[in-house]
Amino acid sequence: MEASVTDTQVGIIGAGPAGLVLSYLLHLEGIDAVVLEARSREYVEKRVRAGVCEQPTVELLREIGVGERMAAEGLPHHGLSLRFDGADHRIDLTALTGKAITVYGQQEIVKDLIAAHAGKGLPIEFEVSDVELHDLDTESPRVTYRDAEGNARELDCAVIAGCDGFHGVSRPSIPGVELIAYDHQYPFAWLGVLARTPPSHEELIYTHHERGFALHSMRSPEITRLYLQVDPAERIENWSDDRIWAELEQRLETKEGFSLREGPVLEKSITPMRSFVVEPMRYGRLFLAGDAAHIVPPTGAKGMNLAIADVRNLSRALKALLRDKDGELAASYSDRCLRRVWRAEHFSWYMTSMLHTDPNADAFQRRLQLSQLRYTASSTAAATSLAENYVGLPFE
Ligand code: FAD
Ligand code: DHB
Repeated sequence: MEASVTDTQVGIIGAGPAGLVLSYLLHLEGIDAVVLEARSREYVEKRVRAGVCEQPTVELLREIGVGERMAAEGLPHHGLSLRFDGADHRIDLTALTGKAITVYGQQEIVKDLIAAHAGKGLPIEFEVSDVELHDLDTESPRVTYRDAEGNARELDCAVIAGCDGFHGVSRPSIPGVELIAYDHQYPFAWLGVLARTPPSHEELIYTHHERGFALHSMRSPEITRLYLQVDPAERIENWSDDRIWAELEQRLETKEGFSLREGPVLEKSITPMRSFVVEPMRYGRLFLAGDAAHIVPPTGAKGMNLAIADVRNLSRALKALLRDKDGELAASYSDRCLRRVWRAEHFSWYMTSMLHTDPNADAFQRRLQLSQLRYTASSTAAATSLAENYVGLPFE
């Protein structure tokens, strides 16, 4: 049977933070878009991922009118702790930069954006399958797919935005010779835990310990989020809740004594760590944004923030291209994004290398790592560098 065809200006693949923020920004510019998402609405609203929102991210979401619940329920943080040598070394983010971060779950942002779309009748199609991209090197690219009922469908667009994450179809639709990929693997993964227990400390604690990195974070006054460095080959079945708490106790221990509040584990999973960038982030009329184009290890809390910075750029480029028939910003989209991407790649690599315990490091490298931690904790210059990257450099 013939596919039923819909015309739209921008076909957006993926309803993560990148796709949803882009769709909403385009709507505000009077450009129509359709978002296609492989998963169900319930699934994307429950997927536990990022928690730290940079100040520029918070400001953007507020400016576009989807920051109300974040302002009410998000937790503003003015500092964080680096914990090593059995003691806390606080980095006063606000004293050093005048800015703060907000702890607010990525799935809450996704929920707020989906609700804003529903409120305005903006189209998001969930549970689509067999998504394929066509005619990318022409001015009328197409997306074919099956809707939730299995019917063959086609989107005829002026532009396609590939916002479908690292495992999506957009990046692999670009001929390999057109892209350069930069890939770096780490000998660690993160075991993430969501627990129903009040946070054990008011702020985030990034812990360097000889048994491995640990991170204490939170989602609300009742919910704690914790991470443990584990081997990438580890299986979640090997980590009983008791083992997780015992390991967290050991790594988070301080000389003064630290009391970790335990509680029922609501969710646990293991995520591998990698750094990955493709250049350029565009092929013809396909523009990549967010995890579809780049991955950072989570230690710097940059992935979602970068995805949102990309689509802020992309919405401006598409407004110029589609409304004003000016292709200049579209032509420089990739270069402008990649400057911020590589800054975040460096920062995420630096935080990861400084805080994790590398099983392959020699004694010399371990000494360098401790020296770097002590310097960061004691030098205002070094702490300011960490803080200004962490709270988010201004958008261009
Ligand atoms: P995604 O959120 O991956 O969205 C892509 C969407 O596309 C998904 O909904 C997917 O289902 C859909 N999709 C995939 N394939 C198809 C297809 N073929 N057709 C249609 N749809 C498709 N970042 C931070 O900024 N701060 C943090 O504190 C932080 N912590 C993290 C902790 C962990 C444990 C993890 C795993 C990540 C963390 N990140 C953090 C990273 C952040 O979650 C990602 O960078 C972010 O989700 C990227 O957004 P995106 O919209 O580009 O991609
Ligand atoms: C969280 C995740 C991160 O990657 C990070 O660096 C800090 C906090 C979180 O999920 O709360």
